[in-house]
Amino acid sequence: MLGNFKYHNPTKLYFGNQSLQFLNQELPEYGHNVVLIYGGGSIKKNGIYQAVMDILTKNNKNVVEISGVMPNPTLKKLYEGIDIARQHQADLLLAVGGGSVCDYAKAVAVSVHCDEDPWDKYFIRFEEPDCQLVPVGCVLTMAGTGSEMNAGSVITNSDTKQKIGHVFASEEVMPKFSILNPHYTMTVPEYQMKAGIYDIFNHICEQYFSGDDDTTSDYISEGLMRSVIHSSRIAIKNPQDYEARSNIMWTATWALNTLVACGKSSDWMVHMLGQAVGGYTNATHGMTLAAVSLPYYRHILPYGLPKFKRFAENVWGVQAAGKTDEQVAQEGLACMEAWMKEIGVAMSIRELGADETMLDELADATIILDGGYKKLGRQEIIEIFRESL
Ligand code: NZQ
Ligand code: ZN
Repeated sequence: MLGNFKYHNPTKLYFGNQSLQFLNQELPEYGHNVVLIYGGGSIKKNGIYQAVMDILTKNNKNVVEISGVMPNPTLKKLYEGIDIARQHQADLLLAVGGGSVCDYAKAVAVSVHCDEDPWDKYFIRFEEPDCQLVPVGCVLTMAGTGSEMNAGSVITNSDTKQKIGHVFASEEVMPKFSILNPHYTMTVPEYQMKAGIYDIFNHICEQYFSGDDDTTSDYISEGLMRSVIHSSRIAIKNPQDYEARSNIMWTATWALNTLVACGKSSDWMVHMLGQAVGGYTNATHGMTLAAVSLPYYRHILPYGLPKFKRFAENVWGVQAAGKTDEQVAQEGLACMEAWMKEIGVAMSIRELGADETMLDELADATIILDGGYKKLGRQEIIEIFRESL
């Protein structure tokens, strides 16, 4: 660990199939006015809405709702939510849903008392909030993003086709508490479950494929990756397997709650490529990552060969004896490809709605970062998108 860092995560977690009861402990900590935020209605079908409402009523909260938060929440929807939260003089924003709902709640939280336009301030200029924030609590219904324990928020501006994430530096943006009941994830549609699994895996990759020094963070990452590979195979066969679903949910949280980034730089280029695709196609986040990953990793492999070799051996169990480093590293990516096909994630951006005519626009929409093994040029980005078709 050669880097200098501070580690502090203020989000309180409640985990397990009895965890919702702890909402009773949390609610008295906040004022009377609660804004309940949720998505397209899945929580009404699976009973989570009623269970949460019962607890809110029991705690005498004055509740208004923001419903219909869509996957890849839009700026237009954000403006609507800010108005509702302002009118209600919100004391707590309670997000009940997946990453989209939780991200959205954070975006509302930093905007309610802000005089400036939130898109320009937070998603174009990447500024930190300098106003009072409304606290966010989360009841998570889907595993994937890690939004339940981080300060990230991703908003899509449909007019400009920009999907932009801001990972706020301020810990104040993180949920004050998150309730994680793995049982809730069992009603997640199969496609979304698979996308969530790949999202988790890729969050770990984004932080693993960087740096040259020996860090504990990388060993933790390898363990997390092995856990998600193992549990994904069980959950795909039997989505009702509580043990596998609970491991996936817990891994998702630790994959992106700042722990495995400690002491090193991070890459995040797969997310930048995937978000560009998401902005143009509105495709499911995890699938956009899956579709661009292998062309990207095969492209940067020569620049980070020792780490790709280590990935092959420690995550996939590739035997190195008698092989060149390059062969071992390539075998690791081949194992990853086989696993991705086995669990059934998107293997091309064409199946997500992209085609040859979009390559230039996708490249223009890709934010280029330099924390990984190779800073990409525009032509390389176009090549990677072409290979992802
Ligand atoms: O809208 P509802 O009815 O809730 O249905 C949702 C939605 O259609 C459904 N769902 C969720 N829980 C369910 C369920 N259906 C049945 N039963 C349940 N228990 O699943 C669909 C997808 O939900 P969504 O919240 O969009 O999925 P996810 O958790 O993958 O979140 C994706 C968003 O998070 C952003 C992505 O870009 C995307 O906008 N990300 C946020 C990050 C962060 N905060 O750090 C990092 C990630 O890399 C990611 O970018
Ligand atoms: Zn992600």
